[in-house]
Amino acid sequence: MILLTGATGVVGTALLRRLTARGEPIRCLVRDPRRLGPERVRVQIALGDLADPPSFRNALRGVRTVVHLAASIRDQPQGSIEELNGIATWRLVQAAERAGVEHFVFFSALSASVHDRTRFLRAKALAEEAVRESSVRTTIFAPSIVYSTDDRYVALLERLSLLPVMVVPGRGRALFQPIWAGDAADCVMAALDGGDGSRRYELAGPDTISHEAMVALVSRAAGRERLRVHVPSPVVRATLRGAEALMKSKTPATWDEAELLEVSMTSPTGTAGAESLGVRPRPMAAVLGAR
Ligand SMILES: NC(=O)c1ccc[n+]([C@@H]2O[C@H](COP(=O)([O-])OP(=O)(O)OC[C@H]3O[C@@H](n4cnc5c(N)ncnc54)[C@H](OP(=O)(O)O)[C@@H]3O)[C@@H](O)[C@H]2O)c1
Repeated sequence: MILLTGATGVVGTALLRRLTARGEPIRCLVRDPRRLGPERVRVQIALGDLADPPSFRNALRGVRTVVHLAASIRDQPQGSIEELNGIATWRLVQAAERAGVEHFVFFSALSASVHDRTRFLRAKALAEEAVRESSVRTTIFAPSIVYSTDDRYVALLERLSLLPVMVVPGRGRALFQPIWAGDAADCVMAALDGGDGSRRYELAGPDTISHEAMVALVSRAAGRERLRVHVPSPVVRATLRGAEALMKSKTPATWDEAELLEVSMTSPTGTAGAESLGVRPRPMAAVLGAR
């Protein structure tokens, strides 16, 4: 039995489709099973929440492999970024050890560091350390930006491209190597089939592009190339903090999310991590159909 957290997310959706197609017995730890769509009838459901560690124990019963994707780049009413990413991962890995799990697969992030300026990448670094120190065999993936044709960020950029100009927060110079969720999911499938020993893979796509170039690519793919206007980071921060104060968790974007786009996420080894698992990541323009 495989326990999958984050099955409704960008990577989780692609991965769950592959796992159920192969007939693997899967249990999904979810907050709301309806968000699993048609796949919900093909899996066992464990209701749970990253902010509710007691829910992990039931979910782990009879499980040999955990694939832990669930994460949050914004504070939730139930828990902060630090609690949902750092502490919850530490608790889940401890519960997995106690439950006799044999393999723990975890998604960290490229550039995760306890010294990073962003709360999310600091929390991921602590989570990665907890996973690495576990007595269970571990596979850690550290991806650059992971995207799909209909993920929240791509959809937001497509909507913004309906306006006459596209707003780019900050200077837009941070560098990324976007990897398609389908390719990331194929890497996980290969790691699940792989041999012994703990491993860490950096997951990067074949292009190294700035945030601004990524905005341009998505709007071009939507058929609406637009003039781009830079808004200084302090203005973005003040605006988003104001929106958060007014709209609470309903805000369309938070400063913590926007700040992540100012931190480069690249791997010096490029696509080598994915290729060592037999996956050749596709260029973003080819996946999105940009000309
Ligand atoms: N996407 C990227 O660019 C990127 C970059 C670097 C690292 N990563 C890491 O890769 C992994 C997969 O990313 P992703 O893009 O697929 O994530 P995602 O699309 O943001 O999905 C997050 C998942 O976590 C679940 N989740 C959020 N809060 C939860 C909570 N309190 N309790 C239980 N589940 C909760 C969500 O479930 P609901 O349906 O209930 O919301 C969803 O299934 C994550 O660990 C992420 O940090 C992603």
